[in-house]
Amino acid sequence: MCGIVGYVGEREAAPILLDGLARLEYRGYDSVGIAVLEENGRISIHKRVGKLDRLTSRLSGATPSGHQGIGHTRWATHGKPSDINAHPHTDCSGDVVVIHNGIVENHQELKEQLLAAGHKFTSETDTEVIAHLVEDRLAEENDLHQALEQTVQILAGAHAILVMSKNEPGTIVAARAGNAGGVVVGYGHGETYLASDLPALLPHTRRVVFLENGDVVRVTAGRAVYRNTGRAVEKTPQQIAYDPVSAAKGSFKHFMQKEIAEQPEAILNTLRGRALFSEARVELEDLKLSPSQLEAIKRVVLVGMGTSLHAAMIGRQYIERIAGIPAEVENASEMRYREAIIGSDTLFVSLTQSGETVDTLAAMEMAKEKGCLQVVVCNVVGSEATRVADGAIYTRCGPEIGVASTKTYVAAISALYMLACYLGQQRGIVDRERIGGLLSPLARLPYAAGEVVHRSGEYERLAHKFYRCEDFLFLGRGLQYPVAMEGALKLKEVSYIHAEGYPAGEMKHGPIALIDREMPVVALVPQDVLREKMMSNIEQVKAREGIVISVATEGDEEVAGRSDHVMYVPKISDLLAPVLTSISLQLLAYHIAVRRGCDVDQPRNLAKTVTVE
Ligand code: G6P
Repeated sequence: MCGIVGYVGEREAAPILLDGLARLEYRGYDSVGIAVLEENGRISIHKRVGKLDRLTSRLSGATPSGHQGIGHTRWATHGKPSDINAHPHTDCSGDVVVIHNGIVENHQELKEQLLAAGHKFTSETDTEVIAHLVEDRLAEENDLHQALEQTVQILAGAHAILVMSKNEPGTIVAARAGNAGGVVVGYGHGETYLASDLPALLPHTRRVVFLENGDVVRVTAGRAVYRNTGRAVEKTPQQIAYDPVSAAKGSFKHFMQKEIAEQPEAILNTLRGRALFSEARVELEDLKLSPSQLEAIKRVVLVGMGTSLHAAMIGRQYIERIAGIPAEVENASEMRYREAIIGSDTLFVSLTQSGETVDTLAAMEMAKEKGCLQVVVCNVVGSEATRVADGAIYTRCGPEIGVASTKTYVAAISALYMLACYLGQQRGIVDRERIGGLLSPLARLPYAAGEVVHRSGEYERLAHKFYRCEDFLFLGRGLQYPVAMEGALKLKEVSYIHAEGYPAGEMKHGPIALIDREMPVVALVPQDVLREKMMSNIEQVKAREGIVISVATEGDEEVAGRSDHVMYVPKISDLLAPVLTSISLQLLAYHIAVRRGCDVDQPRNLAKTVTVE
């Protein structure tokens, strides 16, 4: 979850580290810190609770001078956010500095051993044990690379670690153990970069190596030497195609606003070259599933977390309704600890925009052990999930910086729609005519999504009426039930308003007791097969003097007549309506959060990439 950066070369390190941290702040923002090895051989550490701007304003231009350093932006796990608990952490002498992403699961035991051996601790973090362990190993080996390699073997849990020592100037060592998020090595001319994520590297280089599980690397200016389980390994840098401009906010006030607006393009990019409209075919070349593999599929299991889980819930219905294959969906954090009965006849579909969510990766590992065929829908090329899966469908959205997912979610739904068409087509269940019928609304989807986005002003006005409410209920049926869940999640995430998403049929079994004039009920009522049922639910809310905000299909006057407020979305097929109603609820959440003065891009306590349990 935390953001990690490192630099060694000829330039001043501090500005590069601070710029890298600014690009990674979405990963965690409880505290921030940098350590720079100065020319005089001293390690200068500056750290501060809160966001990066608190550190930069304290430095007020007087950044430490030196040509190598490490930096960290934290999402607290052990030890509350504070100046002392901020990374980097040091050993007793202050000669070794460490930054870390992950949880040292046996830190209590290790700390007791280290205390007994005379080490002194200054923070409450689990990370600090790493600095002291490296210190101990260095006393024996005097080789930072080996010291880190040996230390990692003692640590339980998953980790990404960077270490620097004043006794080995010109060197930074880094390790990756398990799925605590990645470490990427970036190759420049006579300089080397390290980061947890690509956005920090791309202004400098596109030649990168992703560390694999068990890798420990020593980087010096322009060079990197890799080892894994005690042996040297050769790695060839790969070239990353990526557009750093799309990671900038431009004229938008927030990344979330920009990313909501980018959704028509995100959908289009996801469809491009895959949905072949004139041929009435779907091509998913990157999947590389053989006819016999496709034939063997008896069921599909979809997993994800957060917003990705909601995309998976929609995908499940696509797989059943379009491809005619039994499908289930489950929260990855639950699936990983269950004795799930899955095997070689199961297609395991994981949804993860980052490709790094720890629970999703664990569920994928389990599915791999059980012999499932695996597909991942992901936005980050080369991420861990794409390496575990047999095939990937990339959502091609460009970087998503807002912590609350928007564009990667609608692109993932579009990808799942194509996957369902593809499975039906390749298994001979869906004929060309039906594929043509399924693709024609898909061709209109980017345009229809754009129409919803263009109505942003209407949501701003609606937000003005409701931003003081403290509870919201979201109701939907069928394909709109996951949308209700997602609408509630978005509102919670960015505005801190308590919100619940329910299948509308469940309303009478409890939530109805909450209905009063204080709690708006958002009803998803597009013109689909379940519209009449939703109309009854609206009546039931109104009969109890509830306030109803409906999201309905353009021209549906009847819904407007029965609701207090109605937000219209363009007419599209039932199957694709969730994309439009979801965008509508994103806009509602965004404008309410802005009106409440919330930090929409970096909501409190959240992180974009959840790499710890
Ligand atoms: C975090 C993010 C969410 C995201 C979820 C799953 O909670 O804040 O926006 O939906 O993780 O992330 P993934 O990368 O697996 O889609």
